Amino acid sequence: MNKFPKNFLWGASTSAYQVEGCITEGGKVPSTMDLYGDKPNYPKGITGFKEASEHYKNWKIDVEMMAKMGLKSYRFSISWPRIIKNSKGEINPEGIKFYNNLIDELLKNKIEPVVTMFHFDIPLFVMEDGGVHGENFVKHFELYAEVLLKNFGSKINYWLTINELNVLVMMAAGFEVLEKQDFTNQLKVLHNLNLAQAKAIIKCKEICPKAKIGPAPNISTVYANTCKPEDYTAKLNIDMIRNWVYLDAVCKGTYSKVFLNFVKSMGIKFEVSKEELETLSKGKPDFIAFNYYSTMTAQMPTDEALKENTEKFDQQKGLVLPGFGMATKNPNLQKTQFGWEIDPVGFRNTLREVYDRYSLPMMITENGIGAKDILTEDGKIHDDYRIEYYQKHIEQMGLAIQDGVEMIGYMPWSAIDLVSTHEGISKRYGFIYVNRDEFDLKDMKRIEKDSYYWYKELIKTNGENI
Ligand code: BG6
Repeated sequence: MNKFPKNFLWGASTSAYQVEGCITEGGKVPSTMDLYGDKPNYPKGITGFKEASEHYKNWKIDVEMMAKMGLKSYRFSISWPRIIKNSKGEINPEGIKFYNNLIDELLKNKIEPVVTMFHFDIPLFVMEDGGVHGENFVKHFELYAEVLLKNFGSKINYWLTINELNVLVMMAAGFEVLEKQDFTNQLKVLHNLNLAQAKAIIKCKEICPKAKIGPAPNISTVYANTCKPEDYTAKLNIDMIRNWVYLDAVCKGTYSKVFLNFVKSMGIKFEVSKEELETLSKGKPDFIAFNYYSTMTAQMPTDEALKENTEKFDQQKGLVLPGFGMATKNPNLQKTQFGWEIDPVGFRNTLREVYDRYSLPMMITENGIGAKDILTEDGKIHDDYRIEYYQKHIEQMGLAIQDGVEMIGYMPWSAIDLVSTHEGISKRYGFIYVNRDEFDLKDMKRIEKDSYYWYKELIKTNGENI
């Protein structure tokens, strides 16, 4: 018996700012991500997002290649700064036209569009009006969500609210949300994003009652480093801060008492009004989408461990909360070229955990391996490591489905090469290669990698032929 349901959404993902480029074309207004590569704190030798993969120009070719790969779905984000021009909420018709064209082309090719409303790129006018932690953020996002739902709603069955809301909170400074990491403002970011998300869900139910909508955080099972009881407490703490605060807010409409006590113990005032709680409890999702790259292993921080820790903090590693919990290496796992641990069995564990906790159908909106792919003399990209990564993860997803987990689809990262959040274009994820380097844009030619043909075959057999 096939593990994967009929109509399973085998797909792939991208995000607007990482793939589109053309940041001054089509009436797009500036966003936080436009100047990313130019900032003094940005690592040297790595491109920013100005050109990216020039998908804004090449979208038709890209969709054609996705269709030839047999994708059943394509998860992409709409660029907020392409749609809304200013604080007054004026709409940019060219932006609407671009995404309408893209959606129509996908539908023509029988590819289900799965649309993320917001994936990391914040219009500067929002930042200038108080930013994500400011009092006007929720209003700005609600208006934007409404514009999307009214303009594209008739064609979209699956909406995603905010990409990696949890990462935006935990790495607020890294993703240009705050100038510096500071817990009081990070809490405001958390609460505003939760409210904005709930408002978008409520709007979706009003405007597009037939569509389904869900969040898209980055979720990882957290292991305890040892069976020392203190390490298990650290695991629970990290789990709460990394995973559950966000999913509890959207799925249960509340913050847990343990979380509220943790905030209080840090001397921070965090008050949630009755009206806000009502908004949270009305804005419940139809499904949970999440991004999975790896698991995390936690230990209770000791002075020695803190001193020895040299891991750079990013989406998957280096999380440290003194007195509370810290991420540590898992010696049982191999790593990618970029130091992210690879844990396919952890994928099954994570799927099981999320499903047990919330009992909602799920889709995977990111999963993949960043690698320095090489275009060889035969004009091909032999990315057997990517095929192996997917084989192992898809096998474990199949086992999770056999365990009883309800899955709608799998949209790995990424459909096409794009610029990584902080490691340039050399950290490639795509099934489709884009011929450019960090600073030499070459011809931007699209080339199918070996993994492209492998995935095509897998989709054709609905996951039978892994
Ligand atoms: C996720 C993001 O955190 O991970 C993507 O949603 C990102 O935008 C992906 O590209 C991979 O991370 P990175 O840092 O390797 O690009």
